[in-house]
Amino acid sequence: MNPLNHVAIIMDGNGRWGLKYKNSRNEGHRAGLRTVEKIIRESIKNNIKFLTLFAFSTENWKRPKKEINFLFNLLENFLQNKIDDLYNQNIKLKILGKKNFPKKINKLLYLSEKKTFKNNRLQVNLALNYGSKSELINAFKSIKKNKDKITEKTLSKHLLTKNIPDPDILIRTGNTKRLSNFLLWQIAYTEIFFEKKLWPAFNEADYNKIITNYKKIKRNFGNI
Ligand code: IPE
Ligand code: IPE
Ligand code: MG
Repeated sequence: MNPLNHVAIIMDGNGRWGLKYKNSRNEGHRAGLRTVEKIIRESIKNNIKFLTLFAFSTENWKRPKKEINFLFNLLENFLQNKIDDLYNQNIKLKILGKKNFPKKINKLLYLSEKKTFKNNRLQVNLALNYGSKSELINAFKSIKKNKDKITEKTLSKHLLTKNIPDPDILIRTGNTKRLSNFLLWQIAYTEIFFEKKLWPAFNEADYNKIITNYKKIKRNFGNI
């Protein structure tokens, strides 16, 4: 049985789900947040140590302002209402991505990270304004600035995911088979599961099925 430390998820399909069932993309985002809460709970039950959620990409700024504002309002309300709850569940929150949002949001993100910094049951990495290519470019710049040697180890240390083991599982919901600029370096040996269901429809049973299947896979890492 493969050990399971880190699950990464591309939470895709909110907009399509919202349009189909509520005639509104934004309602899909609201429903998607409920799936986030379910999957956090189920990750704890499964003793998973790191859960990385792709919430907003560097490319998502291309979306209409109304949708972007809705998403950040949702995030703001979520953190304001739930950060104590997350703290009490011994969850550590970490943001992956540059915090260049409105001041109020930046402050809330910093405070949420600070409050949960010492927690150690589950680390939830929220990829927000995250893009793998920009992460890699910044890592190379920082290596150059520090005059470090370029090795796999040093590069990993200059990424936003430093001190986080590579994901064991990557799940993408929403019936699309692409990576959309997510963790390109880190998933070199990750087991990838493409899920047809849209994110708001994804549930605990779907998640556990993937985990069970993952545990049975023969991971070779190049060996035989
Ligand atoms: C993913 O759902 C969530 C975010 C990018 C914030 P989408 O909003 O991309 O949903 P679809 O893919 O359009 O259905
Ligand atoms: C990927 O979904 C980003 C997030 C889930 C945050 P997108 O919906 O942005 O991906 P593309 O544009 O369809 O590849
Ligand atoms: Mg999408």
